[in-house]
Amino acid sequence: MKSYIYSTATETAHALIKHLVGMMEREPDRTFYFAFSGGSTPSLMFDIWANEYKEVTPWKRMRIYWVDERCVPMEDSESNYGTMRRLLLDEVGMPGEFVFPIFGDYPPEAEAKRYSAQVCRTVPLWRGFPTFDAVLLGAGDDGHTSSIFPGQEYLLASFHPYEVSVNPYNGQQRIAMTGCLLFAARKLVFFITGKNKANVVRDILDSGDTGPAAYVAHHAEDVEIFMDAQAEKASGTM
Ligand code: 6PG
Repeated sequence: MKSYIYSTATETAHALIKHLVGMMEREPDRTFYFAFSGGSTPSLMFDIWANEYKEVTPWKRMRIYWVDERCVPMEDSESNYGTMRRLLLDEVGMPGEFVFPIFGDYPPEAEAKRYSAQVCRTVPLWRGFPTFDAVLLGAGDDGHTSSIFPGQEYLLASFHPYEVSVNPYNGQQRIAMTGCLLFAARKLVFFITGKNKANVVRDILDSGDTGPAAYVAHHAEDVEIFMDAQAEKASGTM
């Protein structure tokens, strides 16, 4: 696990964007498969990406998927797809054929199956599983990630690529990437900012598997943590 700490959330976002663009620059002849999480932290990255890195990013060599989605229409402000489309994809003119959204307004169980099949069909297989080049993860202050909340750790052992989870705080259903895809990814990249994330950062940086995010970070092969000083300092681990 490699940690990268920056003084502000904005600087962390810049570093993460440069890291992802750098991956693609180092292999200029191939297409990259990325899965993005939702929530507020990625929104900062999408906004900066659209405004300051539009010209240097090889958009047509990217294929965009989602880690998770809230079961709401894409027009809803809660929609992870709708948010990324508004802040980044529409701004940079990303061709629709390179974007593979989860449809939050479809019946959840059916959509989890549909999206699982679509990912298995369109993301290159490696070691028998669809393998993303990078899966961008956030972490909730309760230790959740990929919309897998504490108490739903069974989803980390699922062999269904996506399953329905439930946000325990409001009962909202979500479509969530499960352990079989998370652990198949070439790289998991956490992007965590803010002092309210102190506990989950401590869990991730320590050795205790105290929640889904920490478990994923401790059991995946290649994990990078991009965080700001607020999250790191509050965690008291460095
Ligand atoms: C979601 C996310 C979720 C997120 C964490 C952190 O759809 O909400 O995928 O797992 O990564 O909740 O969210 P923030 O970045 O808003 O703190």
